[in-house]
Amino acid sequence: LENGVGRTPPMGWNSWNTFGCNINETLIRQMADSIVNSGLRDLGYQYVVVDDCWFNPNRDSAGNLQGDPTRFPSGMKALGDYLHGKGLKFGLYEVPLDKTCAQYFSSYPGATGSQGHEAQDARQFAAWGVDYLKYDWCSPTGTINDQVSTFAKMRDALAATGRPILYSINSNSIHAKTGPQRNWGDVANIWRTTEDITNAWDTGQSNGYPMGIKNIVDVTVPLAGYAKPGAFNDPDMMEVGRGGMTDTEMRSHFALWAMMASPLIAGNDIRNMDTATQTILKNARLIAINQDTLGRQASSVVADTNQRVLAKRLANDDVAVALFNQSGATRTVSTTAAAIGKTGSAFTLVDAWTGATTSSGGTISASVPAHGTVVYRVSGGTSGEPPVPTSTTLVSTSSG
Ligand code: DGJ
Repeated sequence: LENGVGRTPPMGWNSWNTFGCNINETLIRQMADSIVNSGLRDLGYQYVVVDDCWFNPNRDSAGNLQGDPTRFPSGMKALGDYLHGKGLKFGLYEVPLDKTCAQYFSSYPGATGSQGHEAQDARQFAAWGVDYLKYDWCSPTGTINDQVSTFAKMRDALAATGRPILYSINSNSIHAKTGPQRNWGDVANIWRTTEDITNAWDTGQSNGYPMGIKNIVDVTVPLAGYAKPGAFNDPDMMEVGRGGMTDTEMRSHFALWAMMASPLIAGNDIRNMDTATQTILKNARLIAINQDTLGRQASSVVADTNQRVLAKRLANDDVAVALFNQSGATRTVSTTAAAIGKTGSAFTLVDAWTGATTSSGGTISASVPAHGTVVYRVSGGTSGEPPVPTSTTLVSTSSG
């Protein structure tokens, strides 16, 4: 979406994965403080996104949305001011229909969706200082055409406020998909590619709820052609630092999100991060690959059940290569400079995890642990056209 924001994938934190509906302004402020104090803000993690359950179940007498008076007693504008004062940006959740997911599943009262209130709500968000709207289609009903026109309504309402607001949409919540994945780049800055992520490596399904890391990768990799500055596939908020995976799997999760030009939205409790989690979220080499201004999503150069090789062309003509071992045992994963679109005979490889530099005449190869991912930034030679995805088949998702 050409609205001036999201020229590289957004980075930040979202409340949902760890806290669900258990949020309040103290928690959000603590998280903001920790994002600053841990150094994450200065690495690019900017957006603090307050997900479902922030609102008063009743609109005011003029029909305006309001924050929950008990959990956000200072009001949403004050929260936005606090975040801006910390050098952060303010994200908020809403839905295009009548009920948010929490309301749909009836644990949360009211029906405060934006349906029929788009212009008014967009103006309210702008007045509160909102910089990022997460807009979540939480209903089993509605055709793809309904979704397109409804999501476009809020796109236009946000544009009419004159405030640059990153527009994040999800068409997948409890919504069965029958056709191919749509390219939403004309509607939103980022769009979810699947139902919700969970903190597990593999949930054994290519659609439905919930989705493991590896399963989301399988769905999102073939959509590489959609990504460009202002418009990125969103394989969901990260589960790094949430347990449920080995450190190797968490490193793969982060490396693959970086390669897929995915939003890097942390979902863990930033106040309590162990060393492994910090090392992963703070990997400046992978962040630079993710935030590269060319805005390419890595395409698949080699793909079989045991391994995947992904290549992402970068603005300075380096190419980032991920050697991902999908199998259950250590194996050597290999490609060549030619296969990732480079010509020449002398290349330098920088390992994104260790920083180690090696020289190569063209072979790009590593011994990779089970479920691990080695990433090299490859420089030297010249880069031709970016690698063509081996699979241009778009997958469909349906939810259970
Ligand atoms: C479904 C979305 O996919 C989640 O990320 C989260 O926003 C929940 N809805 C909130 O109810």
